[in-house]
Amino acid sequence: MGDHLVINWQAGMAAASSSTHHHLVLNNSVKIARLGLGTFRSKGEEVKSAVLHALRSGYSQIDTASVYRNEVEIGQALKESGVARENIFLTSKVSPYEQGYDNAIEAVGQILERLGTEYLDLCLIHWPGAAKLELRSEKNKELRHETWRALERLYLEKKCRAIGVSNFTQQHLECLLSVCAVRPSVNQVEMHPYLIQKPLREYCQRNEILVQAYSPLGVGNLLADPVVCDIASLRKRTPAQILLRWGVQHNVVVLPKSVKKERIQENAAIFDFVLSDEEMDRLDGLDQSHHFCWSPNEDVDQCRPLNIHTGITLMRVV
Ligand code: A2P
Repeated sequence: MGDHLVINWQAGMAAASSSTHHHLVLNNSVKIARLGLGTFRSKGEEVKSAVLHALRSGYSQIDTASVYRNEVEIGQALKESGVARENIFLTSKVSPYEQGYDNAIEAVGQILERLGTEYLDLCLIHWPGAAKLELRSEKNKELRHETWRALERLYLEKKCRAIGVSNFTQQHLECLLSVCAVRPSVNQVEMHPYLIQKPLREYCQRNEILVQAYSPLGVGNLLADPVVCDIASLRKRTPAQILLRWGVQHNVVVLPKSVKKERIQENAAIFDFVLSDEEMDRLDGLDQSHHFCWSPNEDVDQCRPLNIHTGITLMRVV
C-alpha cells in the first residue's frame, strides 16, 4: 500500500474517531458502522426477526458466518426489510472446513447464494486453523495463505468489498502480512473489559487493520460486573450500553448479539454520551485476559463453545 492510502486511512480514522461519528473507514476507504448486530447462536425465525428489527432500528451492519448456519434466514430478512442493499453492510466468514483456495472460492459462492446477495461487504477467514488438522501442523499456515489468495481474487472480482481475518493473533497477522498482495482490512476478535486486547489492538492500529469486537458483552457475563454497574448507574445508562460505549471509544467496531427487540434498540443507543478518561481507565482495569469464547492460544478443553457448536478443535494453531 502506498503512502497516499496510509495517510488517507489515518485521516479517515482520525475524522471518524469523534464520538459523534457513527462510522469508521477501512484501509481501502470502505466505510463501516461502529456498531453491528452479532448473530452467533441466533437461528431460524429468531434470527430473521432480530435482523429485520435491527435494520428497521437503524443498524446497517449484520455479522454472520458460514458456521452459524443462519445465512438463509438472514438473507430472507434482508429481502423482507426493503432496505436497499447498498445501505447494508454484510459480513460473513469462511469456516475452518472451507479453507484452501478452491474450497474458499466455492464456499463464498455458496455464502452469497444462501444470503441471496451478489457480494459481501466484508469476508473474513473465521479461524487461523483448518478443520481436521493437528494444531501444530505447518499445513495450517499453508492453507490459510491459500484461503487468503482466494479472498484476494474475490476482492479483485468485487465479490467482496473488503477482506479480513478473525481470531488471528499478532503472529498469524505478521505471517499473513509477509505474503499477502491485498492487506487485510479487519481482524475480528473477542474483546470486552475482561479481555481488552491492548497489544493486539496496537499492532492492528499500526498496520491499518481495523479491530471488530465480538462478544463485547462477554457473552452477557460482564453485565453484572460491579464496576460496569456502578458506571451505568452513575450515568443512568444500562450496563450493556457502558460496555459497548467503551468499545466504541477504543475505536473498534462492536458486534453485540441479541435476538430481543428492546435489547437490539438499547444496544444502539450509545452515540449520545461519552465516557470520561477515568471511566475508561476503570473499565480497562478489569482486564484479566479472559476469553469467554475460545482462544487461539489455549488448550482445546478450555475452549468448549467452539467444540459444542461446530465440533472443531483448533487451539494453539501454528
Ligand atoms: P439475547 O440474545 O437473549 O438478548 P455478546 O454479544 O457479548 O456475545 O452477548 C450476547 C448475550 O448477551 C446474549 O445472551 C444476549 O441475549 C445478551 N444480551 C445482548 N444485549 C443485551 C442487553 N442489552 N441486556 C442484557 N443482555 C443482553
